[in-house]
Amino acid sequence: MNILVVGGGGREHVICWKLSQEKNVDKIYCAPGNAGIKEVAECVDIKDVDIKGIKDFAVKNKIDLVVVGPEAPLVLGLTDELEAEGIKVFGPDKSCSRLEGSKSFSKHFMEKYDIPTAKYSEYTDIEKAKNEIDEFGYPVVIKADGLAAGKGVIIAKDKSEALEALDMIMGDKKFGDAGNMVVIEEFLEGIETSILAFVDNDTIIPMVSAKDHKKIFENETGPNTGGMGTFSPSPIYDERLEKVVREEVLDRTLEGFKKEGLKYKGILFVGLMITEDGEKVLEYNCRFGDPETQSVLMRLETDLSEIMLAAVDNRLKDMEIKYKEDGACCVILASKGYPESSHKGDVITGLDKMDDGVVVFHSGTAFDDNGEVVTNGGRVLGVTSLGATSEEAAKKVYKNIEKIHFDGMQYRKDIGVKYNAQ
Ligand code: AMP
Ligand code: GLY
Repeated sequence: MNILVVGGGGREHVICWKLSQEKNVDKIYCAPGNAGIKEVAECVDIKDVDIKGIKDFAVKNKIDLVVVGPEAPLVLGLTDELEAEGIKVFGPDKSCSRLEGSKSFSKHFMEKYDIPTAKYSEYTDIEKAKNEIDEFGYPVVIKADGLAAGKGVIIAKDKSEALEALDMIMGDKKFGDAGNMVVIEEFLEGIETSILAFVDNDTIIPMVSAKDHKKIFENETGPNTGGMGTFSPSPIYDERLEKVVREEVLDRTLEGFKKEGLKYKGILFVGLMITEDGEKVLEYNCRFGDPETQSVLMRLETDLSEIMLAAVDNRLKDMEIKYKEDGACCVILASKGYPESSHKGDVITGLDKMDDGVVVFHSGTAFDDNGEVVTNGGRVLGVTSLGATSEEAAKKVYKNIEKIHFDGMQYRKDIGVKYNAQ
């Protein structure tokens, strides 16, 4: 089968890497891909949000399955456009993708189907929001309703920060129309974790757990990032939590999909806060997490293409999905200035010196005019390995990171090393 993977980050690299090892996969294209993805797929120069460009390419090249990595094309309705051409797509349609594309939609959904989540109100009127903000206490969480490239959630520690955030989102429209509405939420304290699941119209199958570390510095300090590293399995995700998530979140979510007539197919990512008052859903995402996917797919034994086709054809309930017993670890190498800014064009060396079994997934890389691999974004590489345990995997990863170099390279030294759960 011919597959087109949409996107160009570490998540899409590991998806292409996994698919490239599978017997039923003949050809993989990736739009737009990156310097690392070129090793395992043919990269085509089409942006992930160029819906028409992707559709035309898929039709012309007789693509059997399109796998959509990032949320933006899903929210724009790429799936609907492709399905109208009779092309199979792994990724939810526009209607279902509102679960990530609109905080207001997802909060209403959770409330309606009794899925535990933080108390909230939504506002389209900035003055009303400002007048009522005190009711939530401080800190308070302010969320732009729409997509804001992962930057639309602000935790304001006092009133002046909260008013500033409202001015920025609703007044200055820093995130454009995504800020026409805000969701204001009570601040939840606890341990954050997440779970990824394969979903079709009848079934929702959670994957093995992975722990993401979002802060830039060790011991969970400094500003939030897209994710600085992951390991799998996550020790917090024990049998009790698995049962609670199954009963209070996943089953109720599937029930909600059925009742709302939402024909969800693809990945559901559930962000959770484990609080003293029970588990609460922070957010839904309608795609694989990055860099959770690097650790999880390294452990996946079953062919990903088979699982994806089963989801598209509504056959997930018949799938037996197997994982390796090994643990996995992925450490992100970021460029100078990340997360406030990023640095492009720094030459990366040492990628050819990795030990067997250590895979470097490219997040933000490109080739320069001399054909050398250079930095091309904030998160640059995800050095990933299996090991007897996630700690063993982490040891292999850190040993190999020492051989990689680029100017301004920064990374956390505690991923998977000790189980710091915050
Ligand atoms: P979201 O995109 O809604 O997951 O928010 C991004 C990040 O903000 C989450 O991963 C949490 O770290 C944090 N966050 C979101 N909502 C809350 C909340 N109600 N209380 C505390 N932290 C939150
Ligand atoms: N690693 C968090 C995310 O993909 O949203």
